[in-house]
Amino acid sequence: MTEDDPRAPPSDLNEPQARAVAATEGPLLVFAGAGSGKTRVITYRVAHLVATLRVPPYRILAVTFTNKAAGEMRARLGRLVGAEVTRDLWVGTFHATCARLLRRYHKAAGLERDFLIYDDADQRAVVGRVIKEQKLAATRCGRFSRASTKRSRKAAGPSR
Ligand SMILES: Nc1ncnc2c1ncn2[C@@H]1O[C@H](COP(=O)(O)OP(=O)(O)O)[C@@H](O)[C@H]1O
Ligand SMILES: [Mg+2]
Repeated sequence: MTEDDPRAPPSDLNEPQARAVAATEGPLLVFAGAGSGKTRVITYRVAHLVATLRVPPYRILAVTFTNKAAGEMRARLGRLVGAEVTRDLWVGTFHATCARLLRRYHKAAGLERDFLIYDDADQRAVVGRVIKEQKLAATRCGRFSRASTKRSRKAAGPSR
C-alpha cells in the first residue's frame, strides 16, 4: 500500500494526526517539526471534509508558500480523493491563489480581465523608462536608475 492510498486505514495517522484530521469545526493550529506529518494531516483533513462530510471541493482553500509544496499537496490529494475532486479544490501558493481570485473577480477589483502583474524587475524597468523619457534629473534618480538598468537587462516579460 502506498503512503497516500485512499484505502489506507485510519492507522495511517498517528493519534495526534487523527485528532487534527477529525477536528473540522473552527480554527486549528498544527505546530510540528519538518517531516513530522503536517502535510499528511492537511491532505487527509481535506479528504475527510470532502469524502465524509460532503463539503463541496470548491469551498476548500489550501494555500502554500511554494509551488513545490502546492504541487505536492495536489498530487497527494489526487491520490486520496481522485483527479476530478482535486481539480475543483483551491490549492495553490498565496500568489497564484490571489492572482486567480483577481482574474475571476477582476471587475470588482477595478481591473481588466487580462491585467498584467509586474514583478520587481518589471517595475524597475518601467520606472527606468519613465525616468529616461521624462528626462528626470539623474541626481535625483541616479541610485535607482543604476539598479534598474542592471536588473532590467535580465528582466523577463511581465507575467499574465
Ligand atoms: N502517521 C504516519 N505514518 C506513516 N508515515 C507517515 C505518517 N505521517 C507522515 N508520514 C510520512 O512521512 C513523510 C513526511 O510527512 P509530511 O506530511 O510530508 O511531513 P511535513 O509536512 O510535516 O514535513 C511522508 O512521506 C509521509 O507520507
Ligand atoms: Mg509539508
